[in-house]
Amino acid sequence: MKVLGIVCSPRKGGNTEILVEEALAAAREAGAETDIFLIADKNINGCDACASCFETGACKIEDDMQPLYQKMEAADGIIFGSPVYFHNYTAQAKAIIDRTFCYLRNRPLKGKVAAPVLTLRKVGAGQTRVQLYGWFLSQGMIPVRGAIGYGREKGDVRTGEGANIGFTAIEEARSAGKDVVEMLKKLA
Ligand SMILES: Cc1cc2nc3c(=O)[nH]c(=O)nc-3n(C[C@H](O)[C@H](O)[C@H](O)COP(=O)(O)O)c2cc1C
Repeated sequence: MKVLGIVCSPRKGGNTEILVEEALAAAREAGAETDIFLIADKNINGCDACASCFETGACKIEDDMQPLYQKMEAADGIIFGSPVYFHNYTAQAKAIIDRTFCYLRNRPLKGKVAAPVLTLRKVGAGQTRVQLYGWFLSQGMIPVRGAIGYGREKGDVRTGEGANIGFTAIEEARSAGKDVVEMLKKLA
């Protein structure tokens, strides 16, 4: 069983990467193999609406999305991480999402279990999670709860909101990783 983490923050070593890494560690402990894709330093363009994928089921734009297609197709579960930027996921996350337009033809993501992992300073977590669930469902993926962590500077999610009531973002991220594996085991 393979679980892929995707980190859509341009900031390396930031809060989203920290939580996605925790989720993947928990997924490994629950028996999965894991892989991670960091968008920072990668070049992924938006969909250019050329519509050639209507015929082929594949995207012809040659950029860093091509290896990510392979990783997503090989995964059974996806942990999709993004910071909240202006009340939504990042532009980098949107580019990835739009580039899965080609998947609507053959639906290779159908039946994969997907968890959103979001980080933010203060405002916009709920609506961003709903936006991600919309993408998961459009692709036939099976959504699980995921995790939300609060903080602004790198590492804030380790101590941010919730830490003082015994349920930190780190613990929530670990549950997200476990939930993906447990759902995959139930479906097997
Ligand atoms: C361009 C930009 C827009 C942001 N917009 C929001 C926002 O709408 N709501 C919020 O709570 N935090 C917002 N933030 C704060 C980030 O979500 C927060 O710092 C997050 O932890 C960054 O994750 P990272 O460390 O993985 O990059 C914004 C930050 C940036 C750089």
